[in-house]
Amino acid sequence: MKTIIEPFRIKVVEPIRMTTRAERERILAEAGYNVFLIRAEDVLIDLLTDSGTGAMSSLQWAGVMRGDESYAGARSWYVLRDKIRELTGFEHVLPTHQGRASERILFELIGGRGKIVPNNSHFDTTRANVEHTGAQAVDLVIDEGKDPRSKHPFKGNMDLAKLEALFERVRRELPPGGTLRDRIPVAMVTVTNNSGGGQPVSLENLRAVRKLCDRYGVPFFLDACRFAENAWFIKTREPGQQDRSVRDIVREMFDLCDGATISAKKDGIVNIGGLLLLRDPELVRRADELLILTEGFITYGGLAGRDLEAMAQGFEEVVHEDYLQYRIRSTAYLGEALLRAGVQIVEPPGGHAIYIDARHFCPHIPPAQFPGQALVCGLYRHAGIRGVEIGSVMFGGGGTPPPMELVRLAIPRRVYTQSHIDYVIEAIGELFARRGELRGLEIVEQQPSLRHFTCRFRET
Ligand code: F0G
Repeated sequence: MKTIIEPFRIKVVEPIRMTTRAERERILAEAGYNVFLIRAEDVLIDLLTDSGTGAMSSLQWAGVMRGDESYAGARSWYVLRDKIRELTGFEHVLPTHQGRASERILFELIGGRGKIVPNNSHFDTTRANVEHTGAQAVDLVIDEGKDPRSKHPFKGNMDLAKLEALFERVRRELPPGGTLRDRIPVAMVTVTNNSGGGQPVSLENLRAVRKLCDRYGVPFFLDACRFAENAWFIKTREPGQQDRSVRDIVREMFDLCDGATISAKKDGIVNIGGLLLLRDPELVRRADELLILTEGFITYGGLAGRDLEAMAQGFEEVVHEDYLQYRIRSTAYLGEALLRAGVQIVEPPGGHAIYIDARHFCPHIPPAQFPGQALVCGLYRHAGIRGVEIGSVMFGGGGTPPPMELVRLAIPRRVYTQSHIDYVIEAIGELFARRGELRGLEIVEQQPSLRHFTCRFRET
């Protein structure tokens, strides 16, 4: 059969509510043209994020009832720990309340002034957590990863030449007796590369980063939020990987690294949760200390027993291949339809989201007037759809413009049906035909860090 179906049926439904254009106009103005400041009930189709917005399965909800809420040594903790050990091979599993809590603990331990952390592309919270310690975050994704039109199958790959050049340069600057690890405490790779279009990283690239890190004595970590989606791309796109199971590929991805930060709100298919995976026993000891100080005891982190139980089941379901086939296919369905309508997206379609090239959509709006944000506002005003800007608003606060002006339409896991997505396609097609009416914006209020969450705009 050519038709790929949702490998589930729906047991519980949640009503969504349409608003009028006049209502949306008022809501948008009251929110200072920042869709993070809109009430979710005023949104019809919410594509703001795929994080924590997934639908849990009947088995996950059953796990919620089974949750053991004991303070220490809860049964639910061992269920989760064993599932993560089985999937990743990591002995040391630290539970946190979400990905950024793992990042904060990690970088508090290994970051610091004068240090440099390379990544293919840092996600915004990862960058902020690195920089918060005084360290510098550098993005070294391959050039194809910055070109929306490049059809490279693994646009999330790390640029190995640039990584080696960084290692060499910093090594030359070391004082006598200094080790590279003192200056570059970790090299990270984000799978899939969220800030660069949800694009995957090949196994070949991960193996090469591992080798390079070994040669220079630098630890290698994954930001593994979307590890299962990345593994599916490896299975379907990378020569020689077709006959391997996703589980097997996932295991190799984790075997290659010394540690990982994970937000379970993505491929854990839960509404809250995170993990920090480590191998180095000394780092584990110090991380446990910080975990207890700021998150909670080592057998629950910042979570309830029921959350641990739902996570364990989510991490099981996410590597099911019928789920991944449906997941990646349904994202591509949106992307292919937009391309047919003439809308430039980051090609090929990513795993968890479609990224519209806002420079192409709004050529009449200069980067200084935030073409991505103008498109986000246009989509909400026109059809009640909420996307998010990933461009000069999110990353331009420091003065350097980012390589792309994108609008991300993230697809929550197992939440919307094909007709919801058909509505999104129709709405964007209509907006594209009238794109000359979209107006630029200027910021009237902002915070010094992570400004996109709370800043307010005025239309120009
Ligand atoms: N790393 C990546 C690649 C992410 O996409 C995110 C979150 C995080 C780390 C942080 O995880 O939210 O659990 O603290 N991304 C969400 C998004 C917020 O919308 O892409 P968190």
